[in-house]
Amino acid sequence: MCGIVGYVGSGDTAGVLLSGLARLEYRGYDSAGIAIINDTGESCLRKSSGKLAQLRKLLESSPAIAGSTGIGHTRWATHGGPTDENAHPHYSEDGSVVLIHNGIIENFAQLRDELADVKLQSETDTEVVAVLLGRELAIVGDLETAFRNVVKRLKGTFTLLAAAVSEPGKIVSARHHSPLVIGLGEGESFLGSDVAAFVEHTRRAVAVADDRIVVITADGVTVTDFDGNLAEVSEYEIAWDPAAADKGGWPSFMAKEISEQPAAVADTIRGRVNDGVVDIPELAALGDEYLQRVNRIVILACGTAAYAGMIGRYAIEEWARVPVEVELSHEFRYRNPIFDANTLVISVSQSGETMDTLMAVNFAREQGLKTISVCNTQSATIPRESDAAIYTYAGPEVAVASTKAFLSQIVALQLLGLHLARVRGALTTEAHRETVAELQTIPDKVAEVVAVHKQVKELAHWMANTNSVLFLGRHVGFPTALEGALKLKEIAYIHAEGFAAGELKHGPIALIDHGQPVFVLVPSPRTNSVMHSKVVSNIQEIRARGARIIAIVETGDTAVLPFADDVIRVPLTDVLFEPLLQVVPMQWFALELSTVKGLDVDQPRNLAKSVTVE
Ligand code: F6R
Repeated sequence: MCGIVGYVGSGDTAGVLLSGLARLEYRGYDSAGIAIINDTGESCLRKSSGKLAQLRKLLESSPAIAGSTGIGHTRWATHGGPTDENAHPHYSEDGSVVLIHNGIIENFAQLRDELADVKLQSETDTEVVAVLLGRELAIVGDLETAFRNVVKRLKGTFTLLAAAVSEPGKIVSARHHSPLVIGLGEGESFLGSDVAAFVEHTRRAVAVADDRIVVITADGVTVTDFDGNLAEVSEYEIAWDPAAADKGGWPSFMAKEISEQPAAVADTIRGRVNDGVVDIPELAALGDEYLQRVNRIVILACGTAAYAGMIGRYAIEEWARVPVEVELSHEFRYRNPIFDANTLVISVSQSGETMDTLMAVNFAREQGLKTISVCNTQSATIPRESDAAIYTYAGPEVAVASTKAFLSQIVALQLLGLHLARVRGALTTEAHRETVAELQTIPDKVAEVVAVHKQVKELAHWMANTNSVLFLGRHVGFPTALEGALKLKEIAYIHAEGFAAGELKHGPIALIDHGQPVFVLVPSPRTNSVMHSKVVSNIQEIRARGARIIAIVETGDTAVLPFADDVIRVPLTDVLFEPLLQVVPMQWFALELSTVKGLDVDQPRNLAKSVTVE
């Protein structure tokens, strides 16, 4: 979950590393560091606990040397607390190599035992690898061979980058179940956890398959397997606009990303509707015959992506009439799940690198199941290891709390539901076209609801001292309520829980006390009158017990007015699309409550954007 960047070239190495780290800081921000080696074999290392700003401060008082070769790291602590000593890079004991690492070395204890005579500077598994590499280099005399020998001894998950003072102009790296991409420039080469690390310098990227060793110099790259056999690679052009990963004048990335949701939805639909009917070209690889045979779907995801999966489930079942289960990736493979050859697995992941989801997808593939990845990150590991990928075109999502990716994941799953419905003949053409026509209005409707910001801001400021908020919904409103609660926990550190409204009377209603704020997601009375009246009854039940009701309701619905303290209006739409609108005020609410509490909206404590450890 750490961010790593490597650079070889004649540019401003420290500047390239720092700007890369700034774009990767979402991956972890406990500490950061850089190491640079110049062509005369001098090296320098600067690192500091805290966010990147601390490292920048250190570099002002103690500048790095100029040099052609540099590695940088932003950390999310696993082995050892977030201290200066545990920050990466790490030197070997003799200072001959510097090394950074993302992941966990599982045989760390055995390796450490071999080094009983060494006094380590940190508590990290990484320093052990640096020391082993320094020793191996002293024996074999060349960095690449030494690195290969050490890498083959490691167990766990890792992306490693290392450079030697005896071989300036070269970085060796390896990946095993942890991300790594290469950037190709003119007379310069880059490595990164993802393309954000170098997109401002080059749009040419090379995806690196698992279990590869990559060597970069200013003139090019070599990619081999762990045994040294040359590996095939494919170059691609990065589709993201580098400016998309900047704040662009917004106070936070999250604010910018909430406001980008209309475009995220529109871009995810674009190119997938042909003459009013959904046709996802990426699914051609699976063949219509297979999609007709599918008798069950399992959606695998974590966190917000899992809530998107829960919402997508309603649409797929409704339109394609295939049973769908949604399971947290980390629970799936440890319970001996039952499936047959016609079970289709769909993973949902913004980053495409979430280790829990990657492992679950690999497990499904080992059982012979077909897998589709819904992913926001081009050429990430999960889509590359799946049979087909449906990309969500939300653009880079930098804030740790997911917003625009969530909406685009829901839309991608809904498009998938409509594609399956067409292939399986499960929906009349007329119903299909009507649904698509409504889906195409969603970007404008999301734009309308993004504009409720001011109203929600006032509400959040008024509720600044709240220490518990509940969220209620039924049907698709239930996972939407879970997402509203997650946003508040994540960035405002407030106890928040989402409930299925019907479940309340089975226990949680005991939580309702005088003044307890409760967000209620009210379904449309037009399209879902039965559920609507049930939710209105639920509102009355909790209102009678003193709850303060914040109702998110469709424009024109007056039934809740007598019982709600605050009413937030969203445009009219079909029931299955309601989450795309109802979640937006809750995103703003979490953002504003975090802001009013003086917290870091984009980088909440203890979290990282991409969870690449199990
Ligand atoms: C919450 C959030 C997380 C992620 C989860 C999965 O705002 O961002 O819950 O949704 O860690 O991440 P991806 O989608 O990258 O697999």
